[in-house]
Amino acid sequence: MAAFTVNKFSPAILFPGRVGCSRRCFFKTSTTTTPTVRRVFAAKVRASSTVTFTGAKPDPVLLEKEASTSKDILACPICYDPLTWNGDRALSVESIGRSSLQCNTCKKAYFGKETHLELTAISGATEYSESLPPSTEIFRTPLLSYIYERGYRQSFSTGSSGFPGPEKEFEMMKDYLKPVLGGNIVDASCGSGMFSRIFAKSGLFSFVVALDFSENMLRECYEFIKQEETFPKEDLILVRADISRLPFVSSSVDAVHAGAALHCWPSPSAAVAEISRVLRPGGVFVATTYILDGPFALLPFLRPMRQSLMRISGGHTFLGERELEDLCRACGLVDFTCVRNGLFVMISATKPS
Ligand SMILES: C[S@@+](CC[C@H](N)C(=O)[O-])C[C@H]1O[C@@H](n2cnc3c(N)ncnc32)[C@H](O)[C@@H]1O
Repeated sequence: MAAFTVNKFSPAILFPGRVGCSRRCFFKTSTTTTPTVRRVFAAKVRASSTVTFTGAKPDPVLLEKEASTSKDILACPICYDPLTWNGDRALSVESIGRSSLQCNTCKKAYFGKETHLELTAISGATEYSESLPPSTEIFRTPLLSYIYERGYRQSFSTGSSGFPGPEKEFEMMKDYLKPVLGGNIVDASCGSGMFSRIFAKSGLFSFVVALDFSENMLRECYEFIKQEETFPKEDLILVRADISRLPFVSSSVDAVHAGAALHCWPSPSAAVAEISRVLRPGGVFVATTYILDGPFALLPFLRPMRQSLMRISGGHTFLGERELEDLCRACGLVDFTCVRNGLFVMISATKPS
């Protein structure tokens, strides 16, 4: 059994000179940042001796993965009961498109499309369709899906938005994910799968689910993967689902990551409640989004501006730190932490053990 000592997040390593905590610093850690925590995990990750992570990549050899159990997480988005495979279990990027699964309870069948597994509640409907708000629908367009990783996402790191960029974001989130390394991870609202691919290639997780509502984003992810000869295709599947109706068995997921997505969700509370439902005790939620609070938020014109933006887009841009913490707490998550840089914030919270 492994005992992992998780150090307090240390942004100084990533952003030298930016940490600290006078009001003039660009980068600050929340007062609620988790203190040094010592956790013992018997669940998915086992090792023969005590391992202390101090920021370096852990030796994957030390992580004995129970991959077969941690992959059995897919559930009917209607009943939330486990799905059974018709034929062979198809747990790889390529074979998932030919797969078919059935819910034992409602008997509904779910099918793979060419690039992904379709697990929305209305999959299979022929006459009925519905649109989600613009903040969701805009990402379904072929154009935005195509340009997303060809300049659009990179633009988050320019100007005052403060997103550090994928490599640094991954380094940062690894600190939060240390307690669940070796387990499975859902990259929720993965877009074209930039982080899903990083997770799969890192070897730090037994299994990765790249989930998004946009079939075009998933198609882009599939194409990116196809271009990489040595990509570990058996460690990842692409799933189309709505964040407010996650197709996973309750308490089956070790980690959920949601990069730059919370502000696009039609209902962050429905989404975080779902994330909380699927996380196992001790499971970790880590997310990035845009934040706006402090003295600026008091400017009289900002509140109505934010409300108009939310009305038009249907998303929830620029929540404040206290709102984000409250959201996580209200949805049953604890140990909220928050690291910010300009309008960028990375939050994490844990399902109580
Ligand atoms: C700004 S992109 C973020 C992509 C990626 N995670 C990143 O870090 O760059 C937001 C993503 O949220 C997805 N999204 C929006 N509404 C969603 C919903 N209701 N369910 C699932 N995904 C949704 C969009 O399709 C889009 O791919």
